[in-house]
Amino acid sequence: MTISMSEKNENIKNQLLKKPATWLVTGGAGFIGSNIVEELVGLGQNVRVLDNYSTGKRENIAPFLKQIELIEGDIRDEEICRLAVKDIDYVLHQAALASVPRSLKDPVITSEVNIMGTVKLLTAAAKAGVRRFVYAASSSAYGDQPVPVKNEQLMPMPLSPYAAAKLAGEYFCHAYSSSMGLETVGLRYFNVFGPRQDPKSQYSAVIPLFITAIIEGRQPTIYGDGTQTRDFTYVANNVQANILAATTTKPVAGKIINIACGTSFSLLDLLKAINEALCPPLTRSRANAGEVSRCNRDGGGQNCPPTANVPLRRGQGEEKRSLRDGSPSIPNPISPFTIHASRSVPIEPLFAPARKGDVKHSLADISLAREMLGYEVGVDFTEGIKRTVAWYLKRKTK
Ligand SMILES: NC(=O)c1ccc[n+]([C@@H]2O[C@H](COP(=O)([O-])OP(=O)(O)OC[C@H]3O[C@@H](n4cnc5c(N)ncnc54)[C@H](O)[C@@H]3O)[C@@H](O)[C@H]2O)c1
Repeated sequence: MTISMSEKNENIKNQLLKKPATWLVTGGAGFIGSNIVEELVGLGQNVRVLDNYSTGKRENIAPFLKQIELIEGDIRDEEICRLAVKDIDYVLHQAALASVPRSLKDPVITSEVNIMGTVKLLTAAAKAGVRRFVYAASSSAYGDQPVPVKNEQLMPMPLSPYAAAKLAGEYFCHAYSSSMGLETVGLRYFNVFGPRQDPKSQYSAVIPLFITAIIEGRQPTIYGDGTQTRDFTYVANNVQANILAATTTKPVAGKIINIACGTSFSLLDLLKAINEALCPPLTRSRANAGEVSRCNRDGGGQNCPPTANVPLRRGQGEEKRSLRDGSPSIPNPISPFTIHASRSVPIEPLFAPARKGDVKHSLADISLAREMLGYEVGVDFTEGIKRTVAWYLKRKTK
């Protein structure tokens, strides 16, 4: 009898519930780290977090403080690393300065944290006899290579100091697996999004910036023409991958594995999906019949972005829409330039020059993750956007 991937995942969770392990999550107060912490706490695991709150937030782990052990400290401090890995089974190393623009501004600090911090933690973990060290690697290592799909065999070509530093971390992980007696696995994440991703930092990622801008009725800024594509991955998939990478019995030591959805969307698609999650679209026939878009979540449009008070008649702005995104010349409620029902004003993005160090297209081959980890996409892009928008809306009303 063959068992499905989801059954495999359930089996691993059941084993962990029966026999809890002890986990160190570095960067546990950050976006991805806090989602991992939440899952591990839910599985009754012993969890230790190491974070210096440089980009993470206390509020991200506040709900779990009673169930976790917290070390406030820096991964560049060898003594802190030694304390943090004591009696740990699995290290999930998420701590890093995780921003391309920041690394362009200050490459030295990015390299100190992301390279030397990782080396110090690896050294401590090897000495402490940690069972496995899972490293949050980055798809930025691939750079902007003209291949439709990125698989792990491609020669890395980092474009920014951030990408170079994350790649150096991978190489150190490989070296420690090869010759320092520590099993390591590197998971190359591709554009992760979801609850707790910070929309406020000047280095914030695109999805929290777009969602909060649209919710607040501001125009989100697109760097470039918006046709650049990404393999946007809802964070629950990365959480699952970390647990699988730590616990799998397959020979994963020293491996680098892509973690993504294996589908790509442009920034214009992303804006549409966010608009749709906020205000579900009409069918085309209803739109043709002249019905205006209605935000049906509350029947009264309260989730629709508050927009400028400029009434727009049906038909206005359509030419621009069809030129930009190729949509038909009927009102398209899921275009980035959606006409919002009761308010009747589209929110258009602002376009700014493309940023240095950004790649044009990014799409992952996830077959190795499937094969080695039994990984599967648990939450796809559209469902992930819905959950994320719902989280930001809930946070706004708190
Ligand atoms: N978010 C993505 O799309 C993405 C993509 C590829 C790889 N990654 C990697 O995933 C990891 C997590 O990223 P994130 O998006 O959650 O970022 P984040 O900034 O939300 O989390 C990083 C955490 O590390 C902590 N940290 C930073 N420097 C530290 C130090 N010197 N000592 C201790 N803690 C420190 C921060 O305070 C923060 O809590 C990073 O390693 C990042 O490079 C993220």
